[in-house]
Amino acid sequence: MRGKVTFVGAGMTGSTMAQLAAQRGHADVVLVDIVEGLAAGKALDIQEAAPWAATSARITGTTEWSESSGSDVVVVTSGVPRRPGMTREDLLGTNAGIVRSVVGQAVEHSPDAVFVIFANPMDAMCHVALQASGLPAARIVGQGGMLDSARYRTFIALETGASPRDVAAWVLGGHTEATMVPVVSNATVGGVPLTQLLPPERVRAVVERTTRGGAEIVGLLKSGSAFTAPAFSTIEMVEAILLDEKRVLPACALLQGQYGVEGGYVGVPVLLGAGGVEEIYEIPLAADEAAAMREAGDAVKELVAATPQA
Ligand code: 2OP
Repeated sequence: MRGKVTFVGAGMTGSTMAQLAAQRGHADVVLVDIVEGLAAGKALDIQEAAPWAATSARITGTTEWSESSGSDVVVVTSGVPRRPGMTREDLLGTNAGIVRSVVGQAVEHSPDAVFVIFANPMDAMCHVALQASGLPAARIVGQGGMLDSARYRTFIALETGASPRDVAAWVLGGHTEATMVPVVSNATVGGVPLTQLLPPERVRAVVERTTRGGAEIVGLLKSGSAFTAPAFSTIEMVEAILLDEKRVLPACALLQGQYGVEGGYVGVPVLLGAGGVEEIYEIPLAADEAAAMREAGDAVKELVAATPQA
């Protein structure tokens, strides 16, 4: 039996995710948006591609939460994106209200779902979703590290000439420029340490470009933010949950002492399966990287304290 995945928000990000999910064909797809006709139009367009996309998935676009009932996974993309010059943290007040409202409504219809939070500032929005849903923390997971790690691997590949597929590198920490932790100490290309392949200044440049990866796209597009790499990154997580794949992926999870962080959502390697975050892995880090993880924990807790409550 096919599963069911709901994408909340039918903007560029949500609709690109819906298209990818439909193409993979493992789940029926529901796209929800408050704007009359938007989700319905995008979903119908994707549905009409099905004969050539070789998928049997049903794609529904709606303004009605009832259509999302019984979803296995709910991905929250709603919220406003950054404009040039804005940080993700600038979106806190606006997006907290939106995320609180959509998660509250979605969970009423899909009480058994795993929620993947994409709206920015994502780390703080995971806390908002946790509170609004009343679900166990394992079933609220944030997407940020998948995208940031994809960017890191891509920039390493561009520097070294190797395929991005053969670069193993993780971005942990927060999904903000100030708190991202591109891990250098265990980054490898085909098993060769990155630090053996590139001089320190090139490694620093790759790390810097990674932390500013989202802003680079926002600056080029002028309106809206990245959506293609974010969509591919999110769909890997969705499939890991839908198919109970037990993938070990970088994702934002509630830490209870791991990496020295107590009670904060931070990007870490997690084992992702049907239960959501089934394990959190603690990997050895260099001293500066370990300190940056603790700072990411402090920063998200400060954002949570600054989040408007209504
Ligand atoms: C990004 O980094 C949208 O936060 C997302 O592009």
